[in-house]
Amino acid sequence: MKITFLGHASILVEVGQNTILIDPFITANEKATGKVDIGSLNPDYILLTHAHQDHILDVEVIAKRSNPTIVSNYEIAMHYESKGFKVHPMNHGGNWNFDFGTVKYTNAIHTSSFPDGSYGGQPGGFIISSDNKHVYIAGDTALTSDMKLIPLTHQLDLAVLPIGDNFTMGVDDAILAADFVSCDSILGYHYDTFGYIEIDHKEALEKFTKAGKKLHLLPIGESMTV
Ligand code: NI
Ligand code: MN
Repeated sequence: MKITFLGHASILVEVGQNTILIDPFITANEKATGKVDIGSLNPDYILLTHAHQDHILDVEVIAKRSNPTIVSNYEIAMHYESKGFKVHPMNHGGNWNFDFGTVKYTNAIHTSSFPDGSYGGQPGGFIISSDNKHVYIAGDTALTSDMKLIPLTHQLDLAVLPIGDNFTMGVDDAILAADFVSCDSILGYHYDTFGYIEIDHKEALEKFTKAGKKLHLLPIGESMTV
């Protein structure tokens, strides 16, 4: 699986012939300007962790172009289905086999409302499994003991964890989360986009190293392979 960081909580996963876009928030992210071309994104699937603006902003413009299947919790899926988009509803704890692999919708502790205040279901994360690789994308979440359930069913190759603090876990809790999910390779996300979530990169990297784990802080637009 090829994982590309598109800024904030936006991730592109390429697996086989399929492209999966998670939480597209690009056009209003000044940090992504000139680094991500939204016109080049033609995903087969869009996975949405929750309904907040900084996770769904660019869904409709991208979906109108590439007609992907939008995968999210039931309420978010119905929201997009009512607008004429193709959807696949899930809910917490559920797995589904897609043509690229399996997705599990995991628990997250956060909130989930659309920008107009309407109900966006309960927030979640995803475990994407394909070709015997397993990637956990936590979504916006606090540290939660539910994360300890993940290694009972999935041996993760990469955990994508929020590290920006204030709205989600910060670095210290993300290190504990890495322990909970039994994964030593972490891709940090949901940091630096706004003043509330700016982090000290050097300190974050050192803290993970000291804990015996590898924190990846990908520049926007850059990729890693698992
Ligand atoms: Ni959020
Ligand atoms: Mn967010």
